[in-house]
Amino acid sequence: MDLPIGIVSPTKGIHMTKPTAYVLGAAILIVGCGGVASVTTGQTSVVSEKIVDASGNLRVPSDYRTAFQYLGTWGVAADKEGEGSKQLHNVYVSPGSIQRFRESGEFADGTVLVKEVFATRNDQMTTGLVSHADALQGWFVMVKARNNIHPENKLWANGWIWSWFDADKPTKTTSTDFSKDCQSCHEPAKATDWVYSSGYPALKR
Ligand code: HEC
Repeated sequence: MDLPIGIVSPTKGIHMTKPTAYVLGAAILIVGCGGVASVTTGQTSVVSEKIVDASGNLRVPSDYRTAFQYLGTWGVAADKEGEGSKQLHNVYVSPGSIQRFRESGEFADGTVLVKEVFATRNDQMTTGLVSHADALQGWFVMVKARNNIHPENKLWANGWIWSWFDADKPTKTTSTDFSKDCQSCHEPAKATDWVYSSGYPALKR
């Protein structure tokens, strides 16, 4: 299998040895071969764990807050007007993915999207009523995988691997089936590869 390996160099920008994805992409594609992928981020070499196991199940990448790129935030309004946001959703993407997306207009295989879901605190501050992140509730993770090598796994669907993780279980999803757990809510984003790309300024050229 042709393995996409990407290396991020702080001095020279982003270099892709294959026109595809970040090493986590390699990590998913080498499932079953027992390989370990690594990426150089800043001065430190971070070993990225495999985030997809042999059965095609995901885990939350442990280094996403330091190694990934920030895409954007969604504020979900509280049910009552004037109460601020009841949730904040921060979205991160694996390194190199923004560049690749701008070049090709598509998410490369192996692209990892992580959406943090936070409960909020809403306080009157000197800027006005302000919502900020409080308790982490968990993560939604999507990994681009055009080639569905796990058709028996119902979390592999429509070119992505899909999973939710409770905050205390980043390595074990509670999701069982894309069509029940995710599909209907992502239907409005079908035309943009199931991703709400309009919320992410960095993806715009
Ligand atoms: C209640 C509806 C709903 C459900 C259920 C849902 N999503 Fe989403 N998802 C959204 C919306 C709307 C956004 C963008 C706005 C936001 O975050 O509020 C989003 C954004 C995301 C993002 C950030 C990237 C993007 O598409 O913009 C990821 C990752 C994600 N969802 C994964 C999942 C996965 C995996 C599942 C199933 C386990 C799932 N979602 C289930 C509605 C939903």
